[in-house]
Amino acid sequence: MKEQLEKIEAKAKQELVSCSEIKALDELRVRYLGKKGELTAILKQMGSLSPEERPVIGQLANKVRADIEEALSSRLAALKSEAQAAKIREEAIDITLPGKKISYGKFHPLTKVENEIREIFMGMGFDIADGPEIDDDYHVFEALNLPPDHPARDTQDTFYIAGTNEKILLRTQTSSVQVHVMENRKPPIRIISPGRVFRSDAVDATHSPLFHQIEGLVVDKGITMSDLKGTLETLMKKIYGNECSLRFRPHHFPFTEPSCEVDISCFNCGGKGCSMCKDEGYIELLGAGMVHPKVLENCGIDSNIYSGFAFGIGLERTVMGRYDINDLRLFYENDVRFLEQF
Ligand code: PHE
Repeated sequence: MKEQLEKIEAKAKQELVSCSEIKALDELRVRYLGKKGELTAILKQMGSLSPEERPVIGQLANKVRADIEEALSSRLAALKSEAQAAKIREEAIDITLPGKKISYGKFHPLTKVENEIREIFMGMGFDIADGPEIDDDYHVFEALNLPPDHPARDTQDTFYIAGTNEKILLRTQTSSVQVHVMENRKPPIRIISPGRVFRSDAVDATHSPLFHQIEGLVVDKGITMSDLKGTLETLMKKIYGNECSLRFRPHHFPFTEPSCEVDISCFNCGGKGCSMCKDEGYIELLGAGMVHPKVLENCGIDSNIYSGFAFGIGLERTVMGRYDINDLRLFYENDVRFLEQF
């Protein structure tokens, strides 16, 4: 029996050495140490031994079992670390290979400048107000002092929504948001409202039936034209640099009194006169003025106590000046060669 045990140990160890798979190792364990294994089979014969032999063989059997177990587990550890090493080798990446280029999207130039303008106004304590693109005649025209037969309506022909009794239309100007804001809030009011506006204009290098404006409105006690001037100068110097200068020209808008148009010194010649500014030295940027007392009253604000200023900036025009873009259509054609430049 002693020889049998020694033979089993030697055979098991030999087989272990040549075993190269973790699964096969398990099979070996079952074959030698399992309930029906070779070692167990021998131990079952212990009953036939003499009382003197029994402890000697018993001890030897335990030693053989422990030896095989130890050999099994050290083989298992070796196989595992080999497998690990192979996996690492297999999955190794060549860090010297060039990577795949990820192309990131960018903000559209209109969005980019709009965001800049939002930041500048937020820095001056303005809120951002939102208004509907589809609105009614009252908010877009009438409340702004443009009754149905007012000639200034001609320049703002728009798209009407059919099938409604009320006159529902696409807003032609963000000035409608002034009315919505003043109807819902009491002064002090300090807002800007960027958004899309619509006019039934034919498309060319400077016109589009859809474009963007940024409306500004401040209403409080003691607001004057100099507040308007200071606000717009701060804005434009932040956008175009400290060298630019503004020119305020008298103008007429039905909803402001007095009204003005604001021009900026030409981006190209700085005011001397060139082909870009048609020898004017200045380029028109926006309309503005002191909110008409009638508009304040229409919105339930006492014009004896409060005054305010308003302005409407054309976003496309501002961006064209900023980046020297000469055709407004480029903004809407989705040509990546154009969009990538900003
Ligand atoms: N809404 C005017 C326009 O579209 C601009 C403007 C806004 C003028 C606010 C004065 C005050 O031309």
